[in-house]
Amino acid sequence: MHSSQEPSIQDVTVTIQNIPKVRTIMRKNLLIVIALLCVSSVLLGQATMNAVVVHADAGKDTISRFIYSQFAEHLGHGVYGGLWVGENSSIPNTRGIRNDVVAALKTIKVAAVRWPGGCFADEYHWKDGIGPRENRPKMVNSNWGGVTEDNSFGTHEFMDLCDQLGCEPVICGNIGSGTVEEMADWVQYLTSDGDNPMTALRKKNGREKPWKVRFWGVGNETWGCGGIMTADFYANEFGRYSFFLKNYGRTPLYKISSGGLPEDCAWTETIMKKWKSVDGWLQGYLNGYSLHYYTVPDWNKKGSATEFTEKDWFRTFATTLKMEDLITKHGAVMDTYDPQKRIGLVVDEWGDWFDVEPGTNPGFLYQQNTLRDAIVAAVNLNIFHKHCDRVKMTNIAQMVNVLQSMVLTRDKDMVLTPTYYVFKMYSVHQDAVLLPVEVQSESCISGKDTISALSVSASRDKDGRIHISLANLDPEKAQNLRCEVKGTSASNVTGEVLTAATMNAHNDFGKPEAVSLKPFTGAQLQKGVLSVTLPAKSVVTLEVN
Ligand code: AHR
Repeated sequence: MHSSQEPSIQDVTVTIQNIPKVRTIMRKNLLIVIALLCVSSVLLGQATMNAVVVHADAGKDTISRFIYSQFAEHLGHGVYGGLWVGENSSIPNTRGIRNDVVAALKTIKVAAVRWPGGCFADEYHWKDGIGPRENRPKMVNSNWGGVTEDNSFGTHEFMDLCDQLGCEPVICGNIGSGTVEEMADWVQYLTSDGDNPMTALRKKNGREKPWKVRFWGVGNETWGCGGIMTADFYANEFGRYSFFLKNYGRTPLYKISSGGLPEDCAWTETIMKKWKSVDGWLQGYLNGYSLHYYTVPDWNKKGSATEFTEKDWFRTFATTLKMEDLITKHGAVMDTYDPQKRIGLVVDEWGDWFDVEPGTNPGFLYQQNTLRDAIVAAVNLNIFHKHCDRVKMTNIAQMVNVLQSMVLTRDKDMVLTPTYYVFKMYSVHQDAVLLPVEVQSESCISGKDTISALSVSASRDKDGRIHISLANLDPEKAQNLRCEVKGTSASNVTGEVLTAATMNAHNDFGKPEAVSLKPFTGAQLQKGVLSVTLPAKSVVTLEVN
């Protein structure tokens, strides 16, 4: 059972986000804040050990908007039905792509979409997905339910989707069952304006001008569904492919290497070592390194997305918080070879993975999405922000109808998930400067899981507005906190909150929205100090100006 206790010295978690320049000052500030808090808590009779300091006049790293990227795989109804309905559908569409879904996704400012997989990428032959649709060959989607893929959504349709969303494409090429020539041709088809066979073919298929494509995955999970390779073998394969993927346009390719299993730092070392050996004479060989980590407390018993206990809640958060350790560990290996952080860590698959909804195809990975998922999203985004000097892109899995999605569709209907609302609320952090924060948080304990109640992130946007996002992971107890905003004369605070009465609150077809953003009135700002009451199980974003 949950036992969120009165704070004791053991139940307080202190996090100082590690900016060397301000570290010493921050430690001093934190001690003063803790001392003041203890005194004021005693005086006021309030038992809270939560304290946050935001250094609004500091910060040097930018939170890349590509942290807010998505993933759309040919999997279940992730593409077919969810994005693509075809031009003759009665569901309102533009050139076959659903208007409702595009409008919803534009609102959350999707920065990039990764496609066509995932595992599907390594059995996808792109030339089957171009030209007149009636002539496109069919294939079996062997990874995801063994269904027939008719290739009606191919390269042109995906690029149209990106145009409609106003986002950049991230193409994941086939290394497992493809060839170097096939992948090199795809790059030429998409990006070249020269006199060459693939440009001619693209023009014949109705697209005169090349597209702008820079993000390029060279295989996916090559330790597993991408070809069961060893790190050494893949490192050599990556080199072979990378060398022949040429830059045609003005934008050079940003080539992303597959990573190993989440904990496999030796894989990271192999790839980085090989990069180091060619760096200096081979330009643009490697730009990003992929990490996949799903929040799954037990792969043999994932559990329901909607029917869960408080113990499951805690297990989920304890598991999701490991993302920070993984980024730190892989980042440390990368630092050894690349202290200047030229290679980005690309977390191109992350999110909650639960059992499929009862009665749905087990191969389609269709799951509901609750307040728990929303708070998991907030926690992970806060972690990515904190490490934005190394983490340059992340892609939540997946955008529509698969795993932790933004929207769910059923025929003509669409539902916005609680996770969608976190992405909406957090869009203010895109391309903003990360602000150093000091966080002292109460802990909450359930069984063997102890987690910090608070997860915090702050940024300053290009207009000087400061945004502070705060999540309360405690499912039962509201958190009072004092948040000092240093280095600003701001006197006004506004905010939005996402919460609900139950842990498993979710939005469903034909029902009024149970979870959506509401104005937040639980924060007061006086002389640079915010007093905030965060409801239990909530996410809040404040703007101070
Ligand atoms: O997102 C579902 C699958 O999870 C992807 O296809 C694969 O890369 C990962 O194992």
